[in-house]
Amino acid sequence: MSRQTKFVLSEDRIPRAWYNIAADLPVPPPPPLNPGTGQPIGPADLAPIFPMELIRQVVSTEREIGIPDPILDAYALYRPSPLYRAHRLEAALDTPAHIYYKYEGGSPSGSHKPNTALAQAYYNKAEGVTRLATETGAGQWGSALAFAGAVFGLEVKVYMVRASYDQKPYRRNLMETYGAQIVPSPSPDTEYGRRVLAETPDHTGSLGIAISVAIEDTVTHPGTKYSLGSVFDFVLLHQTVIGQETILQMEMAGEEPEVIIGCAGGGSNFAGLSFPWLGRTFRGGRTYRVIAAEPEAAPSLTRGTYAYDFGDTAQMTPLVKMHTLGHDFVPEPIHAGGLRYHGMSPLVSLLKEHGHIEARAVHQTATFEAGVRFARTEGILPAPEPTHAIKVAIDEALRAKAEGRPTVILFNLCGHGHFDLAAYERYLAGALEDYEFPAEAVAAALERVPVVAG
Ligand SMILES: Cc1ncc(COP(=O)(O)O)c(C=O)c1O
Repeated sequence: MSRQTKFVLSEDRIPRAWYNIAADLPVPPPPPLNPGTGQPIGPADLAPIFPMELIRQVVSTEREIGIPDPILDAYALYRPSPLYRAHRLEAALDTPAHIYYKYEGGSPSGSHKPNTALAQAYYNKAEGVTRLATETGAGQWGSALAFAGAVFGLEVKVYMVRASYDQKPYRRNLMETYGAQIVPSPSPDTEYGRRVLAETPDHTGSLGIAISVAIEDTVTHPGTKYSLGSVFDFVLLHQTVIGQETILQMEMAGEEPEVIIGCAGGGSNFAGLSFPWLGRTFRGGRTYRVIAAEPEAAPSLTRGTYAYDFGDTAQMTPLVKMHTLGHDFVPEPIHAGGLRYHGMSPLVSLLKEHGHIEARAVHQTATFEAGVRFARTEGILPAPEPTHAIKVAIDEALRAKAEGRPTVILFNLCGHGHFDLAAYERYLAGALEDYEFPAEAVAAALERVPVVAG
């Protein structure tokens, strides 16, 4: 065999600590604010919805946060995940670029999401919580938390964004098989859901609405805490096992990436891959071009405003400084349900604001074209979310070809698309639509963003 395709680490190379970028950030992140007082929130504000250990992780500035053994044991079901060199895609593109992808779709639930689901379920269980409430956009997060609930013995209730609930019914079966309870969002199960349905009975839902109802469920059910699959600092922290493994695997391959790419909905897989590399830069190492790929239909990083806003539609979360399209903006029902979010992680937003990362928005049809091209060369059917990263990786590889310049590209293939076949069917039938950036709807939503100094 003349070439190596997979770079595989043995089980004892699973990272023993998560990497906390707060230790290396060149500028401190603006604090989350209590919307009532306008003052920075403290642990007491978060204690009703999160266990103490996760709150401690959010305020920690330690560079390494040790991973408890029960979580490592569960990680061993699928970690370390493989790094692939995309020889066949490179050949099809006839590019001098070397393309590598980290494959997180081999986890039990099919994406990177168990990296934090297992951690959140573990800490909740350790602090006596019996039930978790959450939202899910693509269904990947709900599946991951349902799996983690089964691993650590917790009840799980999932509010699934209506558009995804209708697009992929088998995700519901998977979550129920793990033992979770699923309802579409908006649903009549909560006061806020009933209000939204009264106004718009056929509402397609959004992550912003589903977060509101999951928080309402949490505070109205004793023994319940809230769990979330993205955006919040501790979620990004738990995902850094991805990037840490790629540092070892790129060493095995004898190369260093020039360009690092991830799709970004709330920012967690993007951060999980890129933060350990960016940390090396911040500690005086070389710089990388780090690119977040997002949908044209919800382009928070490329078209949003960097401002304090709510993470959810009903204004139940703290105010966080982030790139936002406005908390009540409802993105069109694109098939990349995990990217249909009005905001972006505050940490990712901060890095974009200070020029440490780039962002690029892409249309849905172009991403599926890239996904099909990838499936036909590399064999893996990607979830609609990482097809955004694939599209940007292909564009970068073609640019290298046009410039006659070799480069090394690393991207995150954060989930498989086996539950997304209805979307592929529509693409293959030529029935998939692109949505123009809804400038007027965003302008109207931005007018409702609270005015906060700072
Ligand atoms: C496969 C997949 N990729 C990406 C995302 C977007 O989330 P994040 O930006 O936090 O990785 C989701 C969210 O549901 C997802 O399921």
